[in-house]
Amino acid sequence: MSWTRKHLLDLQSLEPEEILSILRTAREFKAVGERHIKKVPSLRGKTVINLFIEPSTRTRISFELAAVRLSADVIDFTAEASSLRKGESLKDTARNLEALNADFIIIRHRAAGAPHFLSRVLDAHVVNAGDGAHEHPTQGLLDLFTILETKGRIEGLQVAIIGDIRYSRVARSNIWGLTKLGANVTLCGPPTLVPPEFEKLGCRICHNLHDAIRDADVINLLRIQHERQRRAMFPSLGEYRALFGINTEQLKAARPDATVMHPGPINRGVEVDSEVADGERSVILRQVTNGLAVRMAVLYLLSGGAAAA
Ligand code: CP
Repeated sequence: MSWTRKHLLDLQSLEPEEILSILRTAREFKAVGERHIKKVPSLRGKTVINLFIEPSTRTRISFELAAVRLSADVIDFTAEASSLRKGESLKDTARNLEALNADFIIIRHRAAGAPHFLSRVLDAHVVNAGDGAHEHPTQGLLDLFTILETKGRIEGLQVAIIGDIRYSRVARSNIWGLTKLGANVTLCGPPTLVPPEFEKLGCRICHNLHDAIRDADVINLLRIQHERQRRAMFPSLGEYRALFGINTEQLKAARPDATVMHPGPINRGVEVDSEVADGERSVILRQVTNGLAVRMAVLYLLSGGAAAA
């Protein structure tokens, strides 16, 4: 299948077969990453600019390394040292980067829709690296890749997403991707952070941790997004931990082969204890490793590369 999209803005607008073609292509790039020589010439002569206006460790480094492994030139834009601080608009900033021959703009921004806006005013490929509480499509893709790799399938799996769903772009991208590929998604957390509207996206809503994880094949834990909450959404972190945090004791309620995921950064001792985050059921670091292959696949396909069959 040939890839015809110019941008990767969200998973909501992708067809299931498009998602699967990214995952198949990522599998090939993961194999490349296990070779002695890990670099391929696919993006030689192209320029990738990481335009991160919000903090990031995993996504920023992963996109940078993905572009390097594809032989692109990579520029890491530093928002704090840029003319955004002098009042330059996002549009002007991005158009100036394009005037310097940027072929790809990878954008993370606190405003939902910022990547979609740039895609309308730029000729460059735009990739959403997280826009507010809207979507984080490459995180959703790397989570799907990790589930497929560890479970061998996605269709029919029971996936429990626990935590701050309301403010989570990771939750939204996971919900779109998982439901498009036929998984059954349960959302769990305090009612203030898991509002009933999410049922319209085809999810089951549950406010009891034990019930949410009992039949789960995959448990995906999310951080409390304090930076996006405008008011206190629950009485205290201690209470949140007591009701929705996962430790070895709580994990006993889950299936023996259930895997534990987390997009990071982890707040240890809040949504998950170290014994679980670092335990044998955890695939958290595997998610990070897989993120590199997925982002290589995304850049390669957007540049016109042929999808793996
Ligand atoms: N998962 C994720 O987006 O992590 P970063 O914020 O460190 O990029």
